[in-house]
Order: sequence, then structure tokens, then C-alpha cells
Amino acid sequence: MLNLGILISGRGSNMESILKSIKKKKIPINPAVIISNKSDAKGLGIAKKLGVAVEVIESKGFKGSRTEYDKKIIKVLTKYKVTPKNGLVCLAGFMRIVSPEFVKKYRNRIINIHPALLPAFPGLNSQKQALDYGAKVSGCSVHFVDAGMDTGPVIIQAVVKVDEKDTEKTLSKKILKEEHRIYPEAVSLFARKKIKVSGRRTKIS
Ligand code: GAR
Repeated sequence: MLNLGILISGRGSNMESILKSIKKKKIPINPAVIISNKSDAKGLGIAKKLGVAVEVIESKGFKGSRTEYDKKIIKVLTKYKVTPKNGLVCLAGFMRIVSPEFVKKYRNRIINIHPALLPAFPGLNSQKQALDYGAKVSGCSVHFVDAGMDTGPVIIQAVVKVDEKDTEKTLSKKILKEEHRIYPEAVSLFARKKIKVSGRRTKIS
């Protein structure tokens, strides 16, 4: 069975939805470790309650380069046997850009959830970006992580309608509900080796 490492920075609701799906035996993967770059991330408490190992690698005040920081992440992942051979790394609200070295080492084994229909509205505050743009639909995307920002091959997307009355808060809530549905689904597909990457496209069998 593959080993899963989840990287978080805060609330951890996507992490929770993945861990709960694993507990319900919906995903054949071993939840090996949760790593946070912030010691006060709410998700750490949730992970502990669910009986999963947690580690903090504080990024605030870290003096080294992005590559050096990611080396620390790789060391912890390796300690929990989340390796490029038999591991999957999920970014779940991990608010850091990962280094090209990390991406290269874990090629097509790092995935991310983004609260917009990529390639629209990458980066931060995507729900606000969608509202400000006047989009009539938005949604979320699970994608492989490459060296760019939110640019890797898409695995699954879900669409939500943007209503005239929507605020950033109500739109975020609608999108989050879909995030909690598609992220565990994508992890399950990966764990069952159902995803093939061919250039920019993914094929789901
Ligand atoms: C989620 O909405 C996720 O899509 C977003 O941060 C939130 C984290 O919530 N990620 C990004 O914006 C990445 N660019 P969570 O900690 O409750 O999962």
C-alpha cells in the first residue's frame, strides 16, 4: 500500500475529508504523516484526534532557501516512508510554493487542491478573483504539482454556479463542499493507480 503525507498550513478541512475517507476504507492508502509549516495550524489537532502522526516544520523565521526548507520536508517524508517510489504527497491548503527540486524528486506524486477552475484564477484569493471578474461559474481543481504555480496537469474539476447574491464567503463555502468531495476521490484514483499522465493530459481508467 502507498504511504500518504499531507502538507497543511491552517484549517485542514481538506486533510480531514481525506483522512475520514481513509478511515471509512474508501481509499487504500496508509496515512503516514501530516506536516504543517505552522505550529498553530488548526488541522494539527484534527489529525492528532484521528490518530495520525503530525510534524511541524516552522517556516516563519526560516533563514534558508526554499530548496533548503523543502529538504527538511523531504527528510520528514522519508522518515515516514513517503518516498518517490511508494508515496503520495497531498498539498491541502499548504500556502507555500514548493521548490523545483522537490517537484522533480517526487515527479507526478505531489497533488494539490485549488479553489478555482484552473487555469482560471491561480494564486491567492481565487474565490474573490472569480467574483471580481464576474464569472458565472467557478469551482475547484485537483491537479499534479509542477514547477509553476497551479499549472500542473488537472486530475478532477468540479463546477459550482456563481449566484448574483454570492459573496466571497458564500462562494467559498459552496466551493469547499465540492473540494471535500473531489480531493478524496482523486487520492483514491491515485492509490488505485487509475491515473495516467500524458503530457498535460491525465487519463482516468
Ligand atoms: C482550500 O479552499 C484550498 O482549496 C485553498 O485553501 C483552502 C484550505 O482550506 N488552497 C489554495 O488556495 C491553494 N492555492 P483547508 O485548510 O480547510 O483545507
